[in-house]
Formats: sequence, structure tokens, C-alpha cells
Amino acid sequence: MKSSTILAIESSCDETACAIVQKSPDDGLAKVISSITATSLAKHKATKGIVPEVAAREQLKCVLPVIEEALKAAQVTKEDIDAIAVTTGPGLVGSLLVGIETARALAMAWDLPIISVNHIQAHPYANFVETEENQNAPQFPLLSWVISGGHTDLYLMNSHEDIQHLGGTVDDAAGECFDKCARLLGFDYPGGPFIEKLSLEIDKNDPQFKGKLPRPLIHEKTFSMSFSGLKTAFLRLFKENQTTTDSETLKVSLATELQEAVSDIIWKRTQQALEQHSNVKSVIVSGGVAANKRIREKLAEGLAQAENSPKLYFPPLSLCTDNAAMIGAYASFHLDKQTSWENVGLKLR
Ligand code: KG4
Ligand code: ZN
Repeated sequence: MKSSTILAIESSCDETACAIVQKSPDDGLAKVISSITATSLAKHKATKGIVPEVAAREQLKCVLPVIEEALKAAQVTKEDIDAIAVTTGPGLVGSLLVGIETARALAMAWDLPIISVNHIQAHPYANFVETEENQNAPQFPLLSWVISGGHTDLYLMNSHEDIQHLGGTVDDAAGECFDKCARLLGFDYPGGPFIEKLSLEIDKNDPQFKGKLPRPLIHEKTFSMSFSGLKTAFLRLFKENQTTTDSETLKVSLATELQEAVSDIIWKRTQQALEQHSNVKSVIVSGGVAANKRIREKLAEGLAQAENSPKLYFPPLSLCTDNAAMIGAYASFHLDKQTSWENVGLKLR
């Protein structure tokens, strides 16, 4: 059967990305022919956070060169493309509009349909991309985690269409918690990778800090999570020990404990979901925080002990953070959502 070739555009935040993705109806996984990402992260260092105006202007500068490069790298031309996929929300309005209007213009000029893609719904599709490590599609029903700087949500997916939101954070996202705590320790955005790096310095970890941070809501019977209190507790613990503990030891010990607390919360909610949905065959994790090795390890250890041992899926690091391959992969499983460029616009919710 004929495979569909999709040109996907992602521009919801500070990354400008384009990917060429292919899938035939029988394939369980989408194939990424090329995937190009430009980031304006360096521009935001001085301001210690993303300035939406600056991000949007950078998107404008990068969007056409990135598309051109993705087409070139895939060795395809506009004649080979069957549809255009674009992130229409949620995200920064100015950034999103650059991608959306570019996609609309291309669709009009090239007479192609568009598939409007929700960024959060697309993240899990990084696990539906064929890679060296991933040759078999996750099996339904599955549990799907989206853990990023803006979201921490757990879903039950019975199929590509039947998706149930089990629960999520009631305040900050896990990534946001990592970012804010890392900032307190003097690190730039994104802070998650710094926290992880610190935690690897095992010889500087003082075990007296083990268990000193709370695991908010962990004993609740719901799927709600909270990371805001964890950040406050982190700040308090830091201040209380600042004068008595060596600075490096304190940083390493607190980072290790923070990572442990977040991992415990994620595992506990996974365990609860598996108890309620014992037929789950796979657990897929996506979003920037899915890059974290301790979270990966904790889930892997827990699932190995679980009844039915559901298979665990993590995307490669390049597909954890924002990228266009996941947008194209989502679209290739939802070709029925094709519409005309006239019907596509910003969808913030
Ligand atoms: O998915 P993403 O690139 O952007 C959003 O849509 O938010 O996620 C970014 C988040 C940031 O909070 C960043 O600190 C976190 O992912 N992150 C990590 C790691 N790499 C990125 N958190 C923990 N450990 C990591 N290795
Ligand atoms: Zn994202």
C-alpha cells in the first residue's frame, strides 16, 4: 500500500523544527526521513528565560531555512509530499503563528492538505517513531506519560483515538520544578540536565539528605500530582544548610534527593494506574523530562517487578525535547484529520 509522506513543522516555543516523516497504513511505526531543529535557546541566556517576542522573531528567521534543509536532507521535493502537519497549540502565540502561517502558505501554494496537531498529544508519538532501538510499536492499551516543562500528565490510551486523561499536576510541571530548583543553585534554563549531572557525582552525595524532601500527594488515591511544594521544600532545605554544608556537597545532595522525589512520584502513579488497568501492555514516556536517566531507571525497575511486565518505551534523547518528528508521526497516524489550509489556525487549548 502507498505510504504517505508528511512535512511536519513545530514552532511552539524556542525550537524551530521541520521533519519529513513517512508511514504506510500497515506500518506500526513512522519512519523519520529527516529531522532538523534550530533553537534560539542561546538568545535567552542573558534574560534567564524565554522572551516570547525574541523567540517569535527567531522563528521567523529560521522557519524557511529549516524547511529547506529538511527537504534537502530527505532528498525529497514538494512533489513527494502528501500532507503538511503543523503544531497549532498550545505554546507561545507569536512562535506558533510563524509555523502555522508558513504551513498554510505552503499548503495553499502546493495544493496540499494540512493536519493540525496539538503539541501535547504529539509528544507521546516520539515513541511511535522507528529507531535503531525501537523496531516494534507500543501495544495498546498503554499508559502514556507526558513530562515536560509545562506538563506532567498521565493518560490511558486504548487506541490512537480512545485516550483517557487519568490525571496530572495540580500546579507546577515536573520540568518546571527541576528548572526552578536548578536556578536556585545558579544554573540556566533548562535546569533538568544540570540536576541530572549533579546527581551523577555520587562521591559528593551526603546520605543525610536522603528522604529529606516531601513526595507531595503520594499517598492520595487519585492521579493528581503536585510539584510546587517540592520546590518550596527544596528552597527551605537549601537555606537551612547553606552555612553548615560545603556548597558542592549541598548542591549534589539536594539535586540527587530532588530527582529521587520526582522519580518516586512518577513511579507511584504508574504503579497505581497498573493496579487499576491490569491489561496495560506498554508504558510510554515522553517530553523533555523523559530524558532523565533516574526516572527511566526507576520505571524500568518497577515495571520489571509488575504483573504482566508491561514493556517500557522511551524515545531517544533527540526526540524527548521539542522536535518535528513527533508532529509528523502523530499526523501519520491521524491522516483522517486532513483539512484545507483555510480551516487551520491557532488552537491554544
Ligand atoms: O518537552 P520540552 O523540551 O519542552 C516543553 O514542552 O516544556 O521539556 C523541557 C523540560 C525542561 O523543564 C527541562 O529542564 C527538562 O525538560 N529536561 C530534563 C532533562 N532534560 C530536559 N529534566 C530532567 N532531566 C533531564 N535530563
Ligand atoms: Zn514539548
